[in-house]
Amino acid sequence: MEEEKEAGAIENVLIIAKLTEQTRNMSLKIQEEDAFSSIDCVGQCLIDEVRTKAFEKAIKRVTKPDWTALDIGTGSGIMALFAARSGAKNVFAVEYDPCVADIARENFVNNGFGDKINLIIGDARDLKFKNNIKFDLVIMEMLTTGMIDEFQVQAVNNLHKQKVVFDSTVFIPCVQETYISLAEMNFSMYDFEMKMVKHLWHGLSENQNYSIKSESKLLNSVSFGSAINEKFNGIITLKIDKSGVVNCVHISSKTYLTDKIVIGDTETLNAPVVVPIAERHVKKGDELNVHVSYIFGKGFQNFKAEIIGK
Ligand SMILES: C[S@@+](CC[C@H](N)C(=O)[O-])C[C@H]1O[C@@H](n2cnc3c(N)ncnc32)[C@H](O)[C@@H]1O
Repeated sequence: MEEEKEAGAIENVLIIAKLTEQTRNMSLKIQEEDAFSSIDCVGQCLIDEVRTKAFEKAIKRVTKPDWTALDIGTGSGIMALFAARSGAKNVFAVEYDPCVADIARENFVNNGFGDKINLIIGDARDLKFKNNIKFDLVIMEMLTTGMIDEFQVQAVNNLHKQKVVFDSTVFIPCVQETYISLAEMNFSMYDFEMKMVKHLWHGLSENQNYSIKSESKLLNSVSFGSAINEKFNGIITLKIDKSGVVNCVHISSKTYLTDKIVIGDTETLNAPVVVPIAERHVKKGDELNVHVSYIFGKGFQNFKAEIIGK
């Protein structure tokens, strides 16, 4: 009996790891039933003041009184609240996690904006809007380094596809730039070799032993003002500036909230990431071609980087 239970549990874990459509629905159902949700994650974003105050400054600077604003991935609701407090006439806030949406609703009501902010529970990737609606301002903080995780790109594309944004629509952020360099990381941890993707978060990564070995170059620059190709595929030539070994790529991002308000990595946003690659000995002055391909929002399991050629 005990054995049967064990086997069942393991099978379940294996199925979930595959993330088929069926298991995706299953995990959504589990989320609804057991209410395990990332409420704490949006709370963390909130206390990242460097990030949050930069968004507030940008929203305040651009918002006009007759505007209709849309906040996608509203989380705690903070960006929608900034837009409402900055005087936008109508504010719509979209969140796909029903438990998080409840928190946003409470925050809108408790701060006197319950009537002004319309909360929509839905997936921004395929949300349908009424034909005649037009957004003057779109705020969307579903950002991750390189936009490799999270569905920022798909959600932006849905707005363009639905024709609810125009040349005049202001996007906050408007651009996300991602940079790449070659590096050597000591992947040994607790006397094990743990060669895997690592986010170098503030406060967590200070004791990580790595060294950047090449120049850093722009990998991609994604502008939200028009539809975006969801697949990135490119070859970047990187000049080595320190001889030794390279065994990973180092990715970092910079977010343009406006052309003048720019943020790099903060406590909860854009942490640089190292992704292991095949090890290679390099000499100062070498120029190496690195082939990188991934689909935005589909996670690091689909991120491929390799040095090509000799
Ligand atoms: C990084 S949090 C940011 C929360 C808030 N905007 C802020 O800046 O503090 C991203 C939020 O987007 C929501 N989200 C992620 N993907 C979504 C999608 N496809 N549709 C709607 N909401 C989504 C998450 O549940 C989460 O609440």
